[in-house]
Amino acid sequence: MTTLTPILTRHWDQADSFTRAGYEREGGYQGLRTALTMDPDAIVQAVKDSGLRGRGGAGFPTGMKWGFLPPSSPNPRYLVVNADESEPGTCKDIPLMMANPHVLVEGVIISAFAIKSNHAFIYVRGEVLHVIRRLQQAVAEAYEAGYLGHDILGSGYDLELVVHTGAGAYICGEETALLDSLEGFRGQPRLKPPFPAVAGLYGGPTVINNVESIASVPSIVGNGPEWFAAMGTEKSQGYGIFSLSGHVARPGQYEAPLGITLRELLDMAGGVRAGHRLKFWTPGGSSTPLFTDEHLDVPLDFESVGAAGSMLGTRALQIFDETTCVVRAVLRWSEFYAHESCGKCTPCREGTYWYKQTLKRLEAGQGSEEDLETLLDLSDNILGRSFCALGDGATSPVVSSIKLFRDEYLAHFEQGGCPFDPAKSTLWAGA
Ligand SMILES: Cc1cc2nc3c(=O)[nH]c(=O)nc-3n(C[C@H](O)[C@H](O)[C@H](O)COP(=O)(O)O)c2cc1C
Ligand code: SF4
Repeated sequence: MTTLTPILTRHWDQADSFTRAGYEREGGYQGLRTALTMDPDAIVQAVKDSGLRGRGGAGFPTGMKWGFLPPSSPNPRYLVVNADESEPGTCKDIPLMMANPHVLVEGVIISAFAIKSNHAFIYVRGEVLHVIRRLQQAVAEAYEAGYLGHDILGSGYDLELVVHTGAGAYICGEETALLDSLEGFRGQPRLKPPFPAVAGLYGGPTVINNVESIASVPSIVGNGPEWFAAMGTEKSQGYGIFSLSGHVARPGQYEAPLGITLRELLDMAGGVRAGHRLKFWTPGGSSTPLFTDEHLDVPLDFESVGAAGSMLGTRALQIFDETTCVVRAVLRWSEFYAHESCGKCTPCREGTYWYKQTLKRLEAGQGSEEDLETLLDLSDNILGRSFCALGDGATSPVVSSIKLFRDEYLAHFEQGGCPFDPAKSTLWAGA
């Protein structure tokens, strides 16, 4: 049985976990003190050796990303933390910043020092005002303690850290749209190449990493890359936060080594709510193909989830029991994608709109089998033909649900309406 490894979440239950005093009592900012005595390139090497892969969804090796920065450039280098967290089901970064903002601040300082940057930004989703205040407070406390600003802890290293709030658009989590938004433009993805490592924020070499990726850096520097690499699986090393939501007895954040299974996590979380059974789930948020109870023992690491036909994504495990209408769930997600599509490219702008219309008809029992072919045809035209990964992600719930639950789609128009009694499902209460 894999056990939990509370590291980032270790002292969330303490009343002052979000303060500098509370964080330092738990050993906070010791990693920074160690880092400032190291050669910056040695820190990049340690992050490479740890095997840390980006926790924002795609799983790109973090140290390798840092290594892509050109050795010299006329423009300043930037570190940008992606704290936009807006994917349906994804809910790890916001509680992390709420309960333990200093681990992110410490991670920013160490990471910026490692990549030789003197300017860092945390781009945070604008709706989460309570989290923004916590972050701003933590940054102010870090300045007061001499962890930020000029000549940090007498090391000669300078760093300015700005907390920037977005205006609540899912597309601004896409890294290049985020950069446009941060520069004050409308958030739409940029053409790549050039990649941000070469020409990112204000045209300067830029590293963009997820909150959890950067927050993992102090533990790697403090405990050593071998300690981190000893957790997890051969190619998906370390620990991560698994967010259980939906029809589960004890929803919440479960921090565990990569490779843990949903069966093990559900055991710790009290199982699917009493009297019900698992119907389907997302391994990594709404942009990852659905799994069913057949996938309970798939190790939740990048390779195993991929081999089983989905993606680890952000480890947002949304649990749906047998009272849930899969067509309705997919309609809800598709409405989200249609609303959040930035409109820059035709396949996503038009395709997500047609998804919504077609699924609405199907869910109301007014569709036909031909509509399923239309949905699959639309998916063929979106997947791989969209400008950014938002379009690709929108196809995941549609295609996987038709593959796994075709009969349920058919039942809708055969019965002339939804075969599920919404009164029995708590998920759609008030919908
Ligand atoms: C539509 C869309 C939304 C995204 N939202 C986020 C987000 O909120 N947070 C995040 O870290 N990455 C998000 N990403 C992924 C980022 O583009 C990028 O891969 C990530 O920030 C890199 O960090 P990492 O290497 O540490 O994982 C999103 C991607 C897309 C296409
Ligand atoms: S895929 Fe969607 S979100 Fe991405 S650029 Fe195209 S229209 Fe915009």
